[in-house]
Amino acid sequence: MSGVDRGLLDKSEEPAAQHETDPTRRDYLFHLGVGVVSVTSVLLAIPLVGFVCSGFVQGPVNKWISLGVLDSFPEQITRLATFRNPFTRPWDGQTGNIPVWVRRIAGSDFQVFAINCAHLGCPVRWFQESGLFLCPCHGGVYYADGSRAAGPPPRGLFQYKYKIEKDQLWIWGGEMPTLANPV
Ligand code: FES
Repeated sequence: MSGVDRGLLDKSEEPAAQHETDPTRRDYLFHLGVGVVSVTSVLLAIPLVGFVCSGFVQGPVNKWISLGVLDSFPEQITRLATFRNPFTRPWDGQTGNIPVWVRRIAGSDFQVFAINCAHLGCPVRWFQESGLFLCPCHGGVYYADGSRAAGPPPRGLFQYKYKIEKDQLWIWGGEMPTLANPV
């Protein structure tokens, strides 16, 4: 075998030796990638599985919730109140605080409105001067009693059931009122 042939043979063997180590490195990286993706998938699936299963283990989704003492709601005034949704999880944070509009007509005569517009759910605002609820999203307007005045909403504001007990205003809350479940 000539020196030139030997030189060619040596060079052709070098890549072969490299090829033997490449698959090992590639395998390692492949398995590492699969492991990372698997762990990430499991971590992401935990809240999803919890959400799906919560419907089976949670039981009833509504209960009576106090909005505060009656004196905090003056007559002829509509004001914002907030309650903590009892069915939230610790990681829900501020989203578990549900605002409602409370209108005290007189004595124990109240209306408690969901803050969400009956059109697509934007939070409506109360304007005492005009006596109207206005929706900032598409111009929905509601009268003081929550009935629809103008704009795209198909109906008036959703209302919570309420009761007076122990000198406090209680609402039947937890599940949000919707078109399918107007409460
Ligand atoms: Fe209120 Fe559309 S969400 S008018």
